[in-house]
This record gives sequence, structure tokens and C-alpha cells, in this order.
Amino acid sequence: MKQLVVSKIKYGTVIDHINAGKALLVLKILGIDENTNETVSMAMNVPSKKMGKKDIVKVEGKYISEEELNKIALISPRATINLIKDYEIIRKFNVRPPKIVEGILNCPNRLCITNSGKEPINSRFYIKIEQEKVVAWCHYCGRKISDLSKHIR
Ligand code: CTP
Ligand code: ZN
Repeated sequence: MKQLVVSKIKYGTVIDHINAGKALLVLKILGIDENTNETVSMAMNVPSKKMGKKDIVKVEGKYISEEELNKIALISPRATINLIKDYEIIRKFNVRPPKIVEGILNCPNRLCITNSGKEPINSRFYIKIEQEKVVAWCHYCGRKISDLSKHIR
């Protein structure tokens, strides 16, 4: 019998197949913090046939936009989204990495203009898939990042 770690929801957004340990970063990317009014549940290191272990995030009461959800692909390209209405899944899709992300990643190059602190410059990275991994290039200095989880703002 399949056991549920977190109960099913009536209405809202379920983010499934998050890489094990990344649920907290998913919340950060979605801007969910202690000020949220939504009912949010989260499970880490749940056993999964496909992934060995996975994390899950459930946000009740709202449909998060696809554009917002696609940012999750930066740290969990295999994440699946389930939109729930009256306990039924009305839409299921995979996240797709955005081509450009602004303001989410920090450039690790200390000399990069985005780290100068003088003028407020939002970071901008171009996203590509290389050998099934998500990598990013800084628009301003060309620095490449391959461990994106470590550079989430
Ligand atoms: N879910 C939920 N509330 C619902 C329906 C589904 O929280 N009312 C969650 C499930 O707990 C699961 C995810 O949505 O984490 C996807 O549900 P389902 O497609 O039924 O599960 P699987 O078949 O295991 O999903 P997949 O095919 O994506 O592996
Ligand atoms: Zn840079």
C-alpha cells in the first residue's frame, strides 16, 4: 500500500519529484517565507521509485504561475507540477528551465558589476542544458555556474 507523507490537498499546487534536500530552496525561489498566508506543507527525503529519494512541496489555495514554477528547474529539472481542484489533478506538467533569469542567481565573480554595490544592477543569467545539467552564464561578466543551488539569492 502506498502511504502518503503529506495528505492530499483540495485545491492548489503540488510540486513533486524535487531533488532530495532542495525543498527549502524551492520555497525560497517561490518567495514563500515566514510571511506567507498560504497553507504550505513540505516533505523531505521521501522514498521514490523514480528518484530514490525526493522532496515534495504543496501550496494550498493557489495556482502558482507556470513562469514562476519554471524557475524551479534551475535546481530540480525533473520536478513535476500538479494543479489540484476538488482533490483531482486538473493539470500535470514538467518544469522547463527559463532561457533567461533575472535576480535569482548571484554571480560568484566578485569583480562582476552586479556585485559592485554602487549602482543597483539586477543579475541576469542565460540558462542552458549541458550533459543533462542546468548551467548558467552571467550576462555581464561571462562567468559560468554549474552548481546553481549554491548561488540562489
Ligand atoms: N496530490 C495531492 N492532492 C491531491 C492529488 C494529488 O497532494 N488531491 C499529490 C500526490 O500526493 C502526489 C502528486 O500530487 O505527490 C501527484 O499525484 P499522482 O499523479 O496521483 O501521483 P503519481 O502517480 O505518483 O505521480 P507521477 O505520475 O507524477 O509520478
Ligand atoms: Zn557576473
